[in-house]
Amino acid sequence: DYLKNIRNFSIIAHIDHGKSTLADRLIEKTGLVQSRDMKEQYLDNMDIERERGITIKLQTTRLHYKAGDGEEYILNLIDTPGHVDFNYEVSRSLAACDGAVLVVDATQGVEAQTLGNVYLALDEDLEILPVLNKMDLDSARPDEAKEEIEDIIGIDAEDAPLISAKTGMGIDDMLEKLVQVIPPPQGDPNGRLKGLIFDSYYDSYKGVVIYTRIFDGSVKKGDFIQLMNTGKSYEVTEVGYCIPGMVPSKELKAGEVGYVCASIKRVADARVGDTITHTDKPTDKPLKGYKKAQSMVYCGVYPAEGEKYENIKDALEKLQVNDAAFQFEPENSAALGFGYRCGFLGLLHMDVIVERLEREFGLDVITTLPSVIYKVIMADGTERMIQNPTNLPDPAEISRIEEPIVKAEIMTPKDYVGSIMTLCQSRRGNMTHMEYLTETRVLLTYDIPLNEVIYDFFDALKSRTRGYASLDYEFQEYRPAKLVKLDILLNKEVIDAFSSIVPEEEAYAKGRNICAKLKKIIPMHQFEVPIQAAVGRKIIARETVRAYRKDVIAKCYGGDISRKKKLLEKQKEGKKRMRQFGTVEVPQEAFTEVLKFD
Ligand code: GTP
Repeated sequence: DYLKNIRNFSIIAHIDHGKSTLADRLIEKTGLVQSRDMKEQYLDNMDIERERGITIKLQTTRLHYKAGDGEEYILNLIDTPGHVDFNYEVSRSLAACDGAVLVVDATQGVEAQTLGNVYLALDEDLEILPVLNKMDLDSARPDEAKEEIEDIIGIDAEDAPLISAKTGMGIDDMLEKLVQVIPPPQGDPNGRLKGLIFDSYYDSYKGVVIYTRIFDGSVKKGDFIQLMNTGKSYEVTEVGYCIPGMVPSKELKAGEVGYVCASIKRVADARVGDTITHTDKPTDKPLKGYKKAQSMVYCGVYPAEGEKYENIKDALEKLQVNDAAFQFEPENSAALGFGYRCGFLGLLHMDVIVERLEREFGLDVITTLPSVIYKVIMADGTERMIQNPTNLPDPAEISRIEEPIVKAEIMTPKDYVGSIMTLCQSRRGNMTHMEYLTETRVLLTYDIPLNEVIYDFFDALKSRTRGYASLDYEFQEYRPAKLVKLDILLNKEVIDAFSSIVPEEEAYAKGRNICAKLKKIIPMHQFEVPIQAAVGRKIIARETVRAYRKDVIAKCYGGDISRKKKLLEKQKEGKKRMRQFGTVEVPQEAFTEVLKFD
């Protein structure tokens, strides 16, 4: 019975509590990768991820561990992404596990994301092993942290291993506990094939590589498999284990974790959460929990001055091959010309994609104001989903507009409760619950429009609480709101790329604010540039960028050619990220600056 020696688990933690460091230590102790080869953290392998210090893409690693009972165990460590934008992906990788190691930083205690992730794990009925990390630090307070785990999460933490992922202290003890506490997988290797896709990525040689946990049956090269939610069939070209790195094997059977390749062209065809089965002898029901990727935030991506539209299209296509959650379609802006409307899971996802366009593909792009999707109920009763504020129908034809509301959980030391409440109120938040988790820690629950959360809410929260508060949120429902379209006009022309949908009572203040900001950002022209904000046909704010007196060059005395050259070059440099709107030039930063609240 091979099953009793397998353990499938994840490490869950709040950001920075030491998940990646612990994974490294485990690989070093039990994996085939030698520690001297471990110059880099093994699991987070994308540059941008590493720079931002967050895990986005999932990876899995097969470890060998010889336990105190003399038995050799196979430990499949399944990594989970560390950001709320990717909660669905997290939940699917947890569904592939039988248990989870909960890492709590003993100097910090339980934080909001710790909770969010634990709830996801409990939803999947996982056995949870709490461990207290960073015990090498003097500021570690293991007893307090244990108490928090017990009080707040409600799991027994008395025997939680005390470890330091950094020094390696306590790791052996942890591994012993892990094989005792986390149950072996169950499943029937002779049953009909049922495997869960918990991650996939595109490889230019093998096509899509599916990471899967097999629940029943087995799969091998040459089999025809069907992806139950898309209904498509493929011939398996290779199966194997992730050691890490792909190592082919004869088959993958019930209880095991590994990879499957089947010449699949796009990751969107092998979406996380889908079930693989055999085409000729399918299982009767797919695994539960499959969800289609749902974009929450949209923005326009346009070529900057001098950039080619085709290059952007190519790059977006390449990115999509590897990211099932990223969507795009062509769109046309009166101001920006041809471009794409792109859909993202959240703002972090958007930042990562835009950064990749710039860095990996060397493109110069302009992104428009991000927007959530509004639901518009027309006077005739029909419904429309609006991803681009410009497309908001004429108010006269609209019966009501609804916006997405999220449930936000904010955990904070009690001293900051007042200033967090002020912040949430200013973002149209509605407190639904407040709970003292311990004497000093408070959990605030808010209903808050997604639109208010996506911009700089997290930054504002951090700066008001000196970094101590943590945030977790999830989509809840659409609710009616009094919203209007706020247009911005430059030199009397509406610039569609600047339009936004805002609460009616804030339109005036927002309009004034945006005009004032644009006045600072838009450079002087040879003519006066009026900047106006309007709701419908009504102008609600106005600023003016005054005209130059003389040409810049005229300011250079006499024939100082090199100085002139420098000045021209500087202007050119400054122009790189400019966009022409009719006769007015606008720098790219305008799009990001106008968004920021103060
Ligand atoms: P995400 O990938 O963002 O989810 O973070 P993470 O939870 O993986 O945290 P990571 O392993 O990157 O560790 C965060 C920081 O804590 C790093 O600077 C680590 O070096 C440090 N760290 C991790 N474990 C320990 C420990 O046991 N002791 C000490 N002193 N520092 C640690």
